[in-house]
Amino acid sequence: MPTYRIEGGTPLHGKIRASGAKNAATKQIVASLLTDEEVILHNIPQIGDVNITIDIVRSLGALVEWVGESSLLIHAASVGSGEVPVAFSGLNRIPVLLIGPLLHRYGKARVPLLGGDEIGARPLNFHVSTLQKLGATVTMEADAWQATAQRLKGTLIELPYPSVGATESALLSSVLAEGTTVIQNAAIEPEIIDTVLLLQKMGALIAVEVDRTIVIEGVSHLRGADHRLLTDRIEVASFAAAAAATDGDIFIEGAEQGTIMAFLNALRRVGGEFEIRPDGIRFFRGGDLRSIALETDVHPGFATDWQQPFGVLLTQASGLSVIHETVFEQRFGYTSVLREMGATIELYNTCLGAKPCRYRYGDHPHSCLVQGPTTLHGTSMLIPDLRGGFSYVIGALVASGTSTIAGAQYVERGYANIPEKIEQLGGRCLVTA
Ligand code: EPU
Repeated sequence: MPTYRIEGGTPLHGKIRASGAKNAATKQIVASLLTDEEVILHNIPQIGDVNITIDIVRSLGALVEWVGESSLLIHAASVGSGEVPVAFSGLNRIPVLLIGPLLHRYGKARVPLLGGDEIGARPLNFHVSTLQKLGATVTMEADAWQATAQRLKGTLIELPYPSVGATESALLSSVLAEGTTVIQNAAIEPEIIDTVLLLQKMGALIAVEVDRTIVIEGVSHLRGADHRLLTDRIEVASFAAAAAATDGDIFIEGAEQGTIMAFLNALRRVGGEFEIRPDGIRFFRGGDLRSIALETDVHPGFATDWQQPFGVLLTQASGLSVIHETVFEQRFGYTSVLREMGATIELYNTCLGAKPCRYRYGDHPHSCLVQGPTTLHGTSMLIPDLRGGFSYVIGALVASGTSTIAGAQYVERGYANIPEKIEQLGGRCLVTA
């Protein structure tokens, strides 16, 4: 298990280059299975989740090759199996997205149960009902999902909540279906729109309407394509939060304003500043940091994946900040370690936000109060999940003294070259095995 040893207390200064978006890369590798022609994807980050996804599609018979530092060639001339080996069970959220493409290419699919971060129950009911509405028979076995279909048929899908994964399941299953599919209450996260762009290049007919409805007219064949992915807006926000939290001044090459507008508003309200340049964004403090109230939401709201990095920033702001997490019911696990480091954070089951959310009843610690500013002290920590893990990294950069962060592989599932990027910004991050 790689461990990071971080010397804190140094403001971050310098320049890094943002990587491509994890949550588009893995989905687009899956989308490449929808054609028997070559797909070339650029700006693919070299991270754990991408490597797992490459191994999965290779296990199905696709040829996948790196053709440059961040470009992947995927050629699924034929799909030799509809079964994703159980060895891929519990590693990430991708196998369920393969069901639609495998049904089109192979007529049946068997994919292992999912993994991913433990940030809530994360059921798959919307995915399953989407596939069933499209005409698939789906059953859950002890260790896998099994699905069969003659030919998927277009239908009306009304998502009870704008789930990212379920919207992607619906898209990947319906582009080659017979007839028209309408997804109501669809998620429209930038990574989804980027995947729609790839599918459009491949020959799909997809309209994203004003009210978060997506209309897909099924086509009989998709072709190869060449596509450059958007920048990772979560990585950008994570380093931007680290810069403001350490009172630093950094430039992130490739950062895109359009995908982080809600983050930029929150950053400015807390006292951070930014300068949009043609080739990226500079992040720094505009003055003293002050407390704010923050509520996560689906896009174009404040993304749940920005919440943990921002939570650390709020420990450095004067006054009482409020965070209401409305997307996942258990995304405050990281706060216990921040408390050990000296932060003053209290969790609440109630909705401390402008509007009551789905988690207002029951035992869901999904709101918190952060009293700042607090001095953080270095400590030893074990990474619980991806975004929580990066919040530990920020905590360690802010803290006085040395922190050791074990379980770095969890954070490396989603962030490329963390130690190198921290060193480029003048921080100290050593890696030990
Ligand atoms: N949900 C259901 N039933 C379903 C699907 C989702 O109830 O069938 C619920 C979830 O439990 C959750 C909400 O809907 O409460 C939203 O979940 P969503 O499906 O949108 O999340 P996801 O597709 O599992 C992706 C990202 C997450 C990101 C969320 C929200 C990937 C691989 N993961 O997860 O990213 O937080 O969307 O934007 O794309 C991360 O990158 O660290 C990460 C966790």
